[in-house]
Amino acid sequence: MSSYQIATIDGDGIGPEVCQSATRVLTHACGSDLLAFTRCDGGAAHYARTGHVLPEDTFMLCRDSAAILHGAAGLPGVTYPDGTEVGNDLHLQLRFRLDLYANVRPVRLWRGVKSPLADWQAGQIDYVIVRENTEGLYASRGGGINLRGEVATDTIVITRKGVERVARFSFALSRKRNGAPRDGTRRVTVCDKANILRSYAFFRAVCEEVAREHTDIEIDYAYVDAMTVHLVKRPDFYDVIVAENMFGDIISDLGAATIGGMGLSPSAELGEHHGLFQGAHGSAPDIAGQNVASPLATILSGTLMLQWLAERHGDDRLSAAAHRIEAAVGDVLAQGDAVPRDLGGSASCTEVTDAVLRRLDSAAC
Ligand code: IPM
Ligand code: MN
Repeated sequence: MSSYQIATIDGDGIGPEVCQSATRVLTHACGSDLLAFTRCDGGAAHYARTGHVLPEDTFMLCRDSAAILHGAAGLPGVTYPDGTEVGNDLHLQLRFRLDLYANVRPVRLWRGVKSPLADWQAGQIDYVIVRENTEGLYASRGGGINLRGEVATDTIVITRKGVERVARFSFALSRKRNGAPRDGTRRVTVCDKANILRSYAFFRAVCEEVAREHTDIEIDYAYVDAMTVHLVKRPDFYDVIVAENMFGDIISDLGAATIGGMGLSPSAELGEHHGLFQGAHGSAPDIAGQNVASPLATILSGTLMLQWLAERHGDDRLSAAAHRIEAAVGDVLAQGDAVPRDLGGSASCTEVTDAVLRRLDSAAC
């Protein structure tokens, strides 16, 4: 009898390859009696066949499962009449309908991986971007206007509830961590543009109110333009960064670039009752089906899933498995067992996956 039902949406492009790799690793580490994966349809290719990017039966399975594991979605040219991409709508529908308000994006430099930033070493870059995931500028998706092809607008939406809950999540996350690498200080940095726009001044003001409930954690502020400089010049200063949806989308890719790229960028999209776990990369259709994509971001997203489930259900078996997988990935990277293409190597998706499995087995001996 499996304990946890996991809905898996392979999706488009490299999605199937990386999602199935992660499923192999998770099953190997946890055993099939602990996790049961049910694959379901969704994404741009499915839309092209059926007219549905997120079929209702897939949504209901996701709603009723313990967690959702996703590969990637989106194919070039598969767009809605308004010009927006269909594949992205899979994520957005799940985010809004399941109220996944905290998009958690760890940015960590692993041993064996060279940062494009000069002289930074593993352990010196280790922060988490918490992106508000259900409002901000994304609240206008599908709601903006395009008048006569002459003027188009989208509106940013910032709510007190939306900011309070993502700020509280960020402070709680900082409390569980060991502080910024530079000084060990538990610090939440509010990233906004409060100097210019009232919406972001409101975002900052609500974060300040929440900060007063967490006086053991330092509050810090950075305008988003300055943030891009700081993430390059002093990444070790950061512990947890909280940002509105659009800004979080942008700075999380910059953060990923500083630690080796999107191939090492996992994500956990969390609400009160649901969690969606996927690599923060896209569907990379240009390399789809060639077995050359790196599965590491999705495998690491799987460890975030295990840790989230372990905390929700008080199940140490899952957190132990997450630590084993993380250690195995760390050893593969540190020892160069199988270096994926995005990190300068030539290892296939399968070879990277098998290297992680071998490390899991050797640790078990
Ligand atoms: C991300 C992606 C998504 C976003 C797309 C795929 C909807 O860029 O998760 O960072 O824009 O949020
Ligand atoms: Mn993005």
